[in-house]
Amino acid sequence: MSAVSTQVVPDTDEEHVRTTSRLRRSARPADDSVKSIVGTSGGVAPQAATAEFPPFRLDPVNQCLWRCGESGEAKRVCLTPKAYALLQYLVKHAGRLVTQAELLAAVWPGCCVQPEVLKSQILDIRRILQDDPKNPRFIETLPRRGYQFIAAVNAILPNLMPSQDAVDCRLIGRHMPLNQLGEALQVALRGHRQLVFVTGPTGIGKTALVDAFQHHVITRAPAVRVGRGQCFEGYAGTEAFYPMLEALGQLCRGSAGPSLLQVLAKRAPTWLVQFPEFVSCEHRQVLQGEILGTTRERMLREIAEFIEAIAADTPLLLIFEDLHRADHSTVDLLSVLARRRNSARLMLIGTYSPADVGSADRPLKALKRELSMHHLCQEIGLPPLREEDVCQYLSGGVPDAQGKTAGLADLIYRYTEGNPLFMVTVLEHLRDRQLVAHHGGVWTLNVPVGGVELRAPESLRQMIEVQIGRLSEEERRVLEAGSIMGNAFSTVVGAACADIDTDRFEELCEELARKEQVVRQTEPLQLPDATMSERYAFVHSMYGEVLYTRQAASRRAKLHLRASAKLAALYARSIDEAAADLAHHCECGGDWQGAIKYLQLAADNSARRFGPRQAAAILERALDLVSRVHVLQRADLEVSILERSALICNASLDSRKLNTRGTRAVDSVNSCSRAD
Ligand SMILES: Nc1ncnc2c1ncn2[C@@H]1O[C@H](COP(=O)(O)OP(=O)(O)OP(=O)(O)O)[C@@H](O)[C@H]1O
Ligand SMILES: [Mg+2]
Repeated sequence: MSAVSTQVVPDTDEEHVRTTSRLRRSARPADDSVKSIVGTSGGVAPQAATAEFPPFRLDPVNQCLWRCGESGEAKRVCLTPKAYALLQYLVKHAGRLVTQAELLAAVWPGCCVQPEVLKSQILDIRRILQDDPKNPRFIETLPRRGYQFIAAVNAILPNLMPSQDAVDCRLIGRHMPLNQLGEALQVALRGHRQLVFVTGPTGIGKTALVDAFQHHVITRAPAVRVGRGQCFEGYAGTEAFYPMLEALGQLCRGSAGPSLLQVLAKRAPTWLVQFPEFVSCEHRQVLQGEILGTTRERMLREIAEFIEAIAADTPLLLIFEDLHRADHSTVDLLSVLARRRNSARLMLIGTYSPADVGSADRPLKALKRELSMHHLCQEIGLPPLREEDVCQYLSGGVPDAQGKTAGLADLIYRYTEGNPLFMVTVLEHLRDRQLVAHHGGVWTLNVPVGGVELRAPESLRQMIEVQIGRLSEEERRVLEAGSIMGNAFSTVVGAACADIDTDRFEELCEELARKEQVVRQTEPLQLPDATMSERYAFVHSMYGEVLYTRQAASRRAKLHLRASAKLAALYARSIDEAAADLAHHCECGGDWQGAIKYLQLAADNSARRFGPRQAAAILERALDLVSRVHVLQRADLEVSILERSALICNASLDSRKLNTRGTRAVDSVNSCSRAD
């Protein structure tokens, strides 16, 4: 496994500080309860929880110790892996003598270790715990026999039922769906895998609900691992397994990355090979050789086994957003994960908009119907907000404010019919026109209700236009450049697009995000040279759309070309990784040859992930674009695409397609020689 190289993004201490200060403590007697939470010798924790012996907390997920201060804040205390394992073993067997021989066998299995090594580790742990061996509070030495952990140990069991005040108080009217998600997670923690679809029309609050639940899980159940992936429109969206790869990348870059990569290498080499950043060049070549000739079914089986293996150790919550845009392979993956029978502490949440699933030719609809029939999934359909919810939103949780906001609530509710996106946009719009004010979290009218006119033609789009119109010229330039990249953009590429210095670009984004206007900061992007770039996302995709479409087509094309040039430079050594994005920017910028070149690379990516349908669709698009290049270059391009297509069909043994492709390639060569 030495060839697996890892780059780990450390957890922020702040996140853990928030986490620990909110944990619900449920005291339990030390011995048996502790056994069940700290984990077995095989590293499998039957219950997802943490052990606490004030002022310390042993964190099995991040394999570290936390020291909690009096005001509830917590500081991470670093332990070497052996010191952690030793302490964990003692805590797990708190209240009884653990002999030296037992400790050596548990922590250094199969090694011949001098007892002095053990003594020196115990010394270190005592120093960290500030424990006096003559008057111990935590570890007592029983001379010539061993050690005993003597402090009382509490289990911190996660409270998974969100209380309304525990989640972001800006999320209103979603107590029931949050509870349903909490219940599903409880069932998943008992080993019964759960697949939950959160559905509803655009702007109904699917993402907001899932965000709140994710936040709740991170703060209340830190022992649950969370991975999240997004489905996209465009070429990236047609790349096989896109959201799973995104979630997996996140998990492997997290604090548990090194151990996850070991499991990935063992159980799912076809997936490991998809991440050049985690594998050295030589190892990648070896892996590629090993997996040559394998099938897409193997890839599905491997990821399912990997997920089950890691979920046996630590429960896993996977979130796939906007499944109505999911590629075929992702839908197959959902099907496999939902149908497998083995016990797994896995919960998978998928959001989608039913109207979009129905209108497009997407495979999700049939799968959902089938899984529902066999009770293998559940659906949480989000209803519009009620008038009292709107009233609560306007009063910002301030107890006496509801009376003041009643008139406004009635107006907003009638106009928006309880659609949250519509509600927040209308309020912003009214604030821009100074008809309402927003102070201390409370929205109030500046004029009598009768003075507020919400005319029918004021669509959401028009309101967003007005909001954007109020920004400074420079801010608009930044956001328009961002919209070229889609729903989220990295500041490095965005700055190149906008032709603005990166620091200035970041400053403007930061300022906009601070004012909660149009964008919010999101996870940074790791570039191939291992540097990080800040990333921002539009608060809703509609903002991105409006910013994109308001630019003249020629300007958009220019910015797309700048984006492709910057991406090509950044990913020069690993161009495959950016192939789908590059193809998109080249096509939108009118660089047909570039688009065809990158589409072929993107098709190779999909073929490597055993997604022949995606690969075929991408090559089909490349073929369509051939008609746009100069007539003299067409034949060569067409032959190269058709050859690739034939190879992919051949690998997936689709002989019918293979024959048509072969014939078309021959035709193309013939017509080319005729032209000569
Ligand atoms: N329950 C709620 N309380 C307060 N604000 C909400 C609520 N639900 C959603 N919002 C706000 O409404 C806006 C739209 O919500 P969100 O993006 O979650 O919708 P969505 O259903 O995911 O939309 P899409 O279908 O386009 O993905 C966001 O600004 C969000 O913060
Ligand atoms: Mg959404």
